Amino acid sequence: MARDGAVYACQSCGAVQTKWSGQCPACGAWNTLVEELTSSRPPGALKPARGTKGRHLAFEGLDQVTPAPPRIATGVSEWDRVCGGGVVPGSAILVGGDPGVGKSTLLLQVAAEAARRGSRCAYISGEEAIEQVRSRAQRMGLADAPVKLAAETSLRAIIDGLKAEPFDLVVIDSIQTMWSDNHEAAPGSVTQVRAAAGELVRLAKKGTMAVILVGHVTKDGAIAGPRVVEHMVDAVFAFEGERGYPFRILRGAKNRFGATDEIGVFEMGDAGLAEVKNPSALFLNTSGERAAGAAVFAGIEGSRPVLVEIQALVAPSAYGTPRRAVVGWDSGRLAMILAVLEARCGLGFGDKDVYLNVAGGLRISEPAADLAAAAALASSAFDVALPQDCVVFGEISLSGEVRQVSRMDGRMKEAAKLGFRRALGPADVEKPALAYTGASRLADAIQRIHDGAWGDPT
Ligand code: TYD
Ligand code: MG
Repeated sequence: MARDGAVYACQSCGAVQTKWSGQCPACGAWNTLVEELTSSRPPGALKPARGTKGRHLAFEGLDQVTPAPPRIATGVSEWDRVCGGGVVPGSAILVGGDPGVGKSTLLLQVAAEAARRGSRCAYISGEEAIEQVRSRAQRMGLADAPVKLAAETSLRAIIDGLKAEPFDLVVIDSIQTMWSDNHEAAPGSVTQVRAAAGELVRLAKKGTMAVILVGHVTKDGAIAGPRVVEHMVDAVFAFEGERGYPFRILRGAKNRFGATDEIGVFEMGDAGLAEVKNPSALFLNTSGERAAGAAVFAGIEGSRPVLVEIQALVAPSAYGTPRRAVVGWDSGRLAMILAVLEARCGLGFGDKDVYLNVAGGLRISEPAADLAAAAALASSAFDVALPQDCVVFGEISLSGEVRQVSRMDGRMKEAAKLGFRRALGPADVEKPALAYTGASRLADAIQRIHDGAWGDPT
């Protein structure tokens, strides 16, 4: 018989098994199951005596009034925007991202700015020594902020420290470096990450202290650690950015206290992260002419319109298997657009290499970008440039129709502000803010790009 409470957690996918085996039945990885000793009762809980009744459960109605949660406005407004108006006391937030993307920089800034505004903040680093954190803060011009620093990885020491002194906001950087002596597994293992996060979240829920956990996640999600705590926390934010570009985007993936489609935009510079309050023109190449193969997509990120250039290159393939490479967009979506262009518009790419790039290091997930990607591809294939002052939006269906997308008016108004005068999009749009070319079918839009007959916008 298995020992009481002994289970085996996969260090790769986080799945829990009752029996050890060499290969994880859930994800197929080898030698990843590690014994985890758990007790079915919380430590210290007494075994209920026979026949005792549980606590009486008091039900409430939906119509009873709950006051809106108070918020800690940190003063980093792009951060507060993604939180839904500031950090909620007693909540737990997980911030994930690639190593080196700037998570420590962002959260040091958040803690320091909140401390300057009177919140009691602590920044606990398990990765860097205090001197390192301090010298970074100096470089970022935050040396005067009354934020308390600690370098510690022992969960017991951290919990005791946080119980002894009241804080409003605590940053734990990173959850993968924390270890609890209740568990034998190595720091960074699924067992330790889950245990550490569990204890910290429990501490937060008991009082008004908000905890922000930092977790390293790679693009393909290869590090399982932080993913196993996603369900414990109130909000999960992803901090994204491409190496070589200064722009960083904080994206809400889960938020119990706000909208999840909100983004915060930052620019990494010598003095830390600068907030980008109006990002609409940030990803636009404004210098020089737009060549064949470029289309400006009028997108919406969160609540704000963002214009971004989509670049395509279609070139004869030198090898039997043509290449498809895409940066900043979904490769499955590209394959779909290529198939629709081939089947519905007679534009074949079977013997061509296709490259698609979203300028500025932004990642687009909106289906509204379909038509802009198709326009860029067609423009490159025909070697005909789109009008310089034209923006494109619209979703493409497998049948080759161009569908309407949300907030078309907002997209066009923002484009008009930035000097664009034309738009190409789905048909039947009422009162467009720009000289508008509507296409109900993709083939019509492609024909228009081929002919280059756009007329003069009035
Ligand atoms: P960091 O916050 O340490 O990343 P993470 O915690 O996500 O691993 O940031 C690392 C990068 O940020 C590093 O390559 C240097 C760069 N950086 C700047 O360019 N300017 C700055 O002011 C700071 C603090 C960092
Ligand atoms: Mg770091």
